[in-house]
Amino acid sequence: MKLADNKATLSFSNGSPDVELPVYQGTVGPDVIDIRKLYAQTGMFTYDPGFMSTGSCQSAITYIDGDKGELLYRGYPIEQLATQCDFMETCHLLLYGELPNAEDKRKFSRTVTMHTMVNEQMQFFLRGFRRDAHPMAIMTGLVGALSAFYHDSTDINNPEHREISAIRLIAKMPTLVAMAYKYNAGQPYIYPKNDLSYAGNFLHMMFATPCEEYVVNPVLERALDRIFILHADHEQNASTSTVRLCGSSGTNPFAAIAAGVACLWGPAHGGANEAALNMLHDIQRQGGVDKIGDFIKQVKDKNSGIKLMGFGHRVYKNYDPRAKLMQETCKEVLGELGLQNDPLFKLAMALEKIALEDEYFVSRKLYPNVDFYSGIVQRAIGIPVGLFTAVFALARTVGWIAQLNEMIGDPEYKIGRPRQLYTGAIRRDVLDLAKR
Ligand code: SDX
Repeated sequence: MKLADNKATLSFSNGSPDVELPVYQGTVGPDVIDIRKLYAQTGMFTYDPGFMSTGSCQSAITYIDGDKGELLYRGYPIEQLATQCDFMETCHLLLYGELPNAEDKRKFSRTVTMHTMVNEQMQFFLRGFRRDAHPMAIMTGLVGALSAFYHDSTDINNPEHREISAIRLIAKMPTLVAMAYKYNAGQPYIYPKNDLSYAGNFLHMMFATPCEEYVVNPVLERALDRIFILHADHEQNASTSTVRLCGSSGTNPFAAIAAGVACLWGPAHGGANEAALNMLHDIQRQGGVDKIGDFIKQVKDKNSGIKLMGFGHRVYKNYDPRAKLMQETCKEVLGELGLQNDPLFKLAMALEKIALEDEYFVSRKLYPNVDFYSGIVQRAIGIPVGLFTAVFALARTVGWIAQLNEMIGDPEYKIGRPRQLYTGAIRRDVLDLAKR
């Protein structure tokens, strides 16, 4: 970042001296006002719950222009990456800053493949869960448990440890997600196969059984690979900020990623894809397209507490570019499976059309986000609703790791420790129990 020729001057109506604050600019996007010395100079904190106007770090990984609906990974538009690259190339780009050439891609993919197995002891963690445990509860446990097996790579300040941990986490997430699915289904775990692609291997571990040969459908394989690309990273969203804050204490990368998994589970964040599909099912049960008007009325009624899941975004005030690509992937997969008339997809498209013409949504700039169509695609592929967010976590792991490594590699980084505006009781003395 570089010092802008602009400066910010903070002045106070109570006669306190003005404070000059430097302004920095990045390569694109909003400038930032550097407030690091504000408390020392004024004895005051800034106040920004939800971080609506706060830049927590500088980063060179992902850039979003919310007004234009633009998403860039290391400068490349998501539309080009999703159609011209695969997930392994995207992982290489996010981790190392450049798309790989053919040889680098082969080496990187091979390295990931060679780390897809998990320690056999991992299966005993699963046995402790009820068979109907939510996959995200299982994943939060399993990812944290990985740190128990890799004492050789938990020093986050060691670049080699960071590198091997990144590869291990990217490689093992599909294996763990498939194990969570098989555990829920009561089926035996399927080991990774080194001759399959990253997405193909996940499909195989999910849907193969020891009883017969499972042949990966190339259309589904490509669709899933694209879903991984679309979910790979997204600036300083809630789960990425959680990973950065957790990692800033110097904890090991597995624990930091487990914190990201836990945060992503929430319905306002990664859990929205599961909530969006459940919402579509509910509307379908109540009467389908004819009931959309009634549902929209409930959404607009603040007392209902009902939101249009898969719509709205803190940053995008235009169409989420990932939602457009996800809708196209929907059409490809449903077409391949002969489900062009899938009622939920038709319902989703009708709901989107009505919402985008309704003043409530238009005035609040609420558009479909990445979660609105992703559930329909995953359901068509055969992935159960409860596993959608685990698949999101699988794909986002590379982004979390890239952001964590960028933070640790930044000489300016410190442990994150926000302050507060205290509104509680002032100092008072404890009364003896008899007198209370
Ligand atoms: C992801 O941050 C990321 O980058 C996240 C993510 C990623 O890749 O990491 O993109 C992934 O989490 C996508 C978002 C998935 N969540 C959902 O689809 C859940 C539904 N969406 C909302 O909960 C909401 O839109 C948020 C949480 C996504 C964003 O909320 P904000 O930015 O805090 O905005 P807000 O809640 O203040 O909403 C502004 C207004 C409010 O109305 P008013 O108070 O002005 O009258 O819009 C309304 C909200 O009530 N609103 C909605 C709505 N989203 C916002 N009303 C109905 N349905 C919605 N979905």
